[in-house]
Amino acid sequence: MSQRDLVRGGASLFADDGPDGLLHRAFLRGEGLSADEVRRRPVIGICTSFSELNPCNAGLATLAQAVKRGIASRGGLGLEFPTISLSEPFSRPTSMYLRNLMSMDVEEMISSSPIDGVVLLAGCDKTVPAQLMGALSADKPAVMVTAGPRPTSCWHGEPMTIDDVWPLIDERRIGRLGDDEWLKLEGDLNVGVGTCNVLGTATTMAAIAEVLGFAVPGAALLLATSAAQNTLAERAGELIVDVVARDARPSTLVTLAALENAFRVVCALGGSTNAVIHLVALAGRAGLTLTVDTLRTWAATTPLLTDVRPSGRYLLADFERSGGVPALVRELAPLLDTSRPTVTGASWADTVTEAAQGSAQPARRGARNLGSRGGGSVERRNGAPAVPVPALRTLADPVAPAGGGLALLTGTLAPGGAVLKTSAASSALRQHRGRAVVFDGVADVNARIDDPALEVDASSILILRGVGVRGAMGMPEVGHIPIPAKLAKAGVTDMMRLTDARMSGTATGTVIVHITPEAAVGGPLAFVRDGDLIEVDVEAGRVDLLVGDDELAARRAATLSGHSSAPSAAASDAAGSSRAPTTSIPSRGFSWLHYQHVLQPDRGCDFDFLRADFSGGRAPALE
Ligand code: FES
Ligand code: MG
Repeated sequence: MSQRDLVRGGASLFADDGPDGLLHRAFLRGEGLSADEVRRRPVIGICTSFSELNPCNAGLATLAQAVKRGIASRGGLGLEFPTISLSEPFSRPTSMYLRNLMSMDVEEMISSSPIDGVVLLAGCDKTVPAQLMGALSADKPAVMVTAGPRPTSCWHGEPMTIDDVWPLIDERRIGRLGDDEWLKLEGDLNVGVGTCNVLGTATTMAAIAEVLGFAVPGAALLLATSAAQNTLAERAGELIVDVVARDARPSTLVTLAALENAFRVVCALGGSTNAVIHLVALAGRAGLTLTVDTLRTWAATTPLLTDVRPSGRYLLADFERSGGVPALVRELAPLLDTSRPTVTGASWADTVTEAAQGSAQPARRGARNLGSRGGGSVERRNGAPAVPVPALRTLADPVAPAGGGLALLTGTLAPGGAVLKTSAASSALRQHRGRAVVFDGVADVNARIDDPALEVDASSILILRGVGVRGAMGMPEVGHIPIPAKLAKAGVTDMMRLTDARMSGTATGTVIVHITPEAAVGGPLAFVRDGDLIEVDVEAGRVDLLVGDDELAARRAATLSGHSSAPSAAASDAAGSSRAPTTSIPSRGFSWLHYQHVLQPDRGCDFDFLRADFSGGRAPALE
């Protein structure tokens, strides 16, 4: 037993002959467990982020029962426990503000509870990375079950997924969607529990959980609370018993090779930009570093293989029928280290080979069928052809060549990096030079974006700043700046946009997000003025502010001399604007902790003291 186990209590406490053991067993007996049940081994925690305040995770209660059955079938005891749960639509200012807090909750509950291992139940965007980060830091054997996407709904006879809501909101904004339709949309958008039903952040993170070896291969895309999903949740319950027996800890799963596999899968999926932040944070928890240059190289050498919404044409169900994540791993294998294990302990190479050989069989244990290559449905929208085309393509015939999923950019405007989802961007804007139209915060966007007097044209570059992880407490998903109404009415559907915010995984458009350092900590973005020329070259991986060094230094100096604590506000003043945001510094509580300790996106927006390389600090002296 390690020092940490002694201090914090492992499951062996249930076996103790003395008062400790008696009390542990007695308290469970009081819950109604039998004398036999309290002697079952291993003891597995079922860490659930079920919450009625998180509709995406509301199906987890059912899955917890399936997990428990799986654990019991292998002789173990499953005990469910809650942590906080982060809902993308309901958490303010943004669920990302609380990701690190949830990871601390998860880590401490796993560490301090008398359990040998844990099954993690998560779904909505931030709950998956929070659980993976917490479990990695706690480092007890862990298996993950993700909530699964909610069903596709229907809008005027056509399939509707969550990404369809953004253009409809824009229609409403410019007066083209009436009250009746607006009310109908409220009832028609989500027709069940589960996560967003496109390749957004939740699905991308579920895929990452599979690839890293936490989740059962093939589980990520199964419909929330479906029979198939319950079957795989039961399988996860069985598997955690094996994982504990093998003592396969998260620290053995999250290696540099595994992170590269996961990142390349995100690129091949055309997955969410948020995944970049979470993978970098996971690396930091594992004592590893993913630099911008490393990520840029991986992104630039990985083609886009899936043709799935929001950036592609097909539904998640089409991708699932094409074999889902295991089939993608099989196609991408030459670019991956397939010797890395899945949650079963088998290598990815063996898993996809076995799955392909067994694809004619209807039911399988461990990995799901990879499906036939004709798995695409006859899709009906977004210009999709009327003949079946697979939602998953091959390296020889990709949806887009290398670099087609994500691009990492650096330059004078983003010395610490920035991210573009190339799969969702306009190819005409991949090389673009335009003049800046600067917005300081969301309120400024809302106040001026539709002003007919706004000096903007289709070639302008819209900038939203002051909404980074420190400036806006968690980096909200507001980077998808709306197209100014007068341009939208004229038919403009996309523009180059730059921001220190994040963007929803369900959104599309040419939006360069996560500009690092953010404006609120004095990044160059803080010193951009309306009319400045900016150049973006995605192929070259550059985003540059075409303002001379002397001019930029003068702006910075003017800012520092006039304002000492709020660079983003000061920058606006330097630009002669009266629309400067105020950066208020929290005085207490979690917001204080966040403000003091959160790191920039190039270190995953984690707290400095949660990273593996944190060297500790001295406790304050007693007075
Ligand atoms: Fe929860 Fe999208 S809002 S997964
Ligand atoms: Mg989101």
